[in-house]
Amino acid sequence: MPSLIRIPFDESLLPKVSVFDCGTEPWQHEVSEWIKRQRGAGRALDEIECGLQVWLYATDAGELVGFGSLGPALQRWPAAKDPEIAVSIIPFMGIDRRFWGQPPGVPWQERYSGQILGDVVAEAAKSRDARPILKLLVYEGNAAAIKLYERVGFTEYHKPRKDKESGLLYKRMALDLRVPNIPDR
Ligand SMILES: CC(C)(COP(=O)(O)OP(=O)(O)OC[C@H]1O[C@@H](n2cnc3c(N)ncnc32)[C@H](O)[C@@H]1OP(=O)(O)O)[C@@H](O)C(=O)NCCC(=O)NCCS
Repeated sequence: MPSLIRIPFDESLLPKVSVFDCGTEPWQHEVSEWIKRQRGAGRALDEIECGLQVWLYATDAGELVGFGSLGPALQRWPAAKDPEIAVSIIPFMGIDRRFWGQPPGVPWQERYSGQILGDVVAEAAKSRDARPILKLLVYEGNAAAIKLYERVGFTEYHKPRKDKESGLLYKRMALDLRVPNIPDR
């Protein structure tokens, strides 16, 4: 299996992500814009300064395949009216469209999508005592992402969130990091 190399993202890597393209639909475009924008634009580089971790994933040959992110957050849990608890969040992850579905003919865990999400989940699991739940938002029509998240064990919780600007509905999905099949790395 061609394993990806993980590189912590910082400002010096902006030229590397400048051609990153994970699709033209609004919910895809926001993902590539998030990683590409300059400091001060309120996207990845600014969130890193506030404690978010962002990693690029590349092939042995140095080609940028995708990125993942992970940070702390709060969540009313388990019910929507319960008090907030500390959780982890994946704000965004994306794969350049050249690498969607790659490499072919391997189990889903070994595809680039499975490798990147598996790595971020394993990273989140290291903090499972302090932050037992890993959450994310995903556009309800994003079939590829939803299938990937469900395979890893994410399930939908609470009501979807409506984005005020676009009117798009985003499912809330969560993974309990204390369940036994979450890997320790
Ligand atoms: C979401 C994303 C990371 C998944 O990566 P990927 O390489 O496309 O993932 P996979 O090839 O493993 O696809 C997962 C499954 O969805 C299926 N799928 C892919 N595109 C699909 C579509 N448009 N409709 C329905 N199913 C689709 C795949 O066939 C696969 O199922 P299979 O294993 O049964 O064949 C990638 O598509 C992406 O970066 N999208 C844009 C950014 C984004 O949406 N990020 C997530 C939200 S932050």
